[in-house]
Amino acid sequence: MTDPNDDLFAPGSRSIVRCGSCARAADGTSESCACGGLFDVLHPRPAVFPVPTGHNSGVWRFGDLVMPGASTPVSWPEGRTPLVEREAVRSYANVGQLWMKHEGMNPTGSFKDRGMTAAVTDAVRSGATAVACASTGNTSASLGAYASMAGLRALVFVPQGKVALGKLAQATAYGAKTLAVRGDFDAALDLARAASRQLGVYLANSINPWRIEGQKTIAWELLEQLDWNVPEWIALPAGALGNTSAFGKALREARALGRIARVPRLLAVQASGAAPFATAFAERFSRRVTVSAETAATAIRIGNPASWDRGVRAIRETDGVVVAVSDGEILDAKAVIDAAGIGCEPASAASVAGVKALRAQGTIGPDDRVACVLTGHLLKDPDAVVAYHAGGSRLSNPPVEIEPDLRAVARILEAR
Ligand code: F0G
Repeated sequence: MTDPNDDLFAPGSRSIVRCGSCARAADGTSESCACGGLFDVLHPRPAVFPVPTGHNSGVWRFGDLVMPGASTPVSWPEGRTPLVEREAVRSYANVGQLWMKHEGMNPTGSFKDRGMTAAVTDAVRSGATAVACASTGNTSASLGAYASMAGLRALVFVPQGKVALGKLAQATAYGAKTLAVRGDFDAALDLARAASRQLGVYLANSINPWRIEGQKTIAWELLEQLDWNVPEWIALPAGALGNTSAFGKALREARALGRIARVPRLLAVQASGAAPFATAFAERFSRRVTVSAETAATAIRIGNPASWDRGVRAIRETDGVVVAVSDGEILDAKAVIDAAGIGCEPASAASVAGVKALRAQGTIGPDDRVACVLTGHLLKDPDAVVAYHAGGSRLSNPPVEIEPDLRAVARILEAR
């Protein structure tokens, strides 16, 4: 008889890395399995869900279920991000309760730092001298910072002309070599994977299973902040599906170890111009969909999500939903989040826009409690803010040019 937990935990006393499709063990030299599947990390089964330690890092305080035995993690430190509520955002989405888990408060301004601390720690212990990633921007910023801390060379492959200014500035400033690929993210990822296979650089994209291990801690920290009272929904933006996969694995492990009795439903939100996963969900995942992606939310401008199978598993196991929202809905939600004094980058606001859309169609109930993950900081994409507020939307708030004259100031105060 097979143990139902075979799938979740390693059989022996050490963590193992094996293919999620054919279960072949990773040999440590390839970024994915010969069968085309992606590798997963399995840890030995602890007796109970480990009590988080007092570690400064919100990732390494869960170290026993991230990378047991990692003695010298490459850590900023990261995580321990705030969970906040604002009435303006709750009423905009029209749900019973709404929390925002602000992952933009990580050291490089996005949730990627949680995965990167684990991946770069693994790169160092496996003797890598150079690391690489393809990125829509945030992963490259994060890899730049962590590679610099570890003293590794970093190569980042980004889609030329399609990366937000803040992210490009970060990668350059942290010392990563930026390669602007004449193509989209999907082409950049193909190139980075080939470079990893043929030139031996360590690949730090979210197909790397250690990235998933680090990112699981977003879900655990969020639930801990709710005193482990599981909300009805957790909403997050979805691109390559690494984070969706991480949330699925975190919830699966927390339930298997008895930390939670039920899992929240995951709501993965895509931009309508980059929505292969939402299209496939509507067809009950009967086929793998790819598209040529276009959206103002450049972080999730991805047409061929790499973590497809594990993303599907996360949605199925949580009775989850995948939805697409327009760029207009994303940018309006962002303006509400921004004006509430919180702020996030465009892709992050897809979470709140998706909640609003599902509430309007009745899938999310009026009393449901929803946690939205804000994946990146407002300052990542200043051009998006300037462009939005220059437009004529109801929420737009453009700067006004005035003479250095007090009467001009008085006129502005009166107009309000
Ligand atoms: N939100 C932000 C701000 C992101 O940067 C990303 C992905 C996502 C959401 C989606 O996460 O890909 O795991 O489904 N950014 C990657 C990057 C692709 O290169 O920075 P996902």
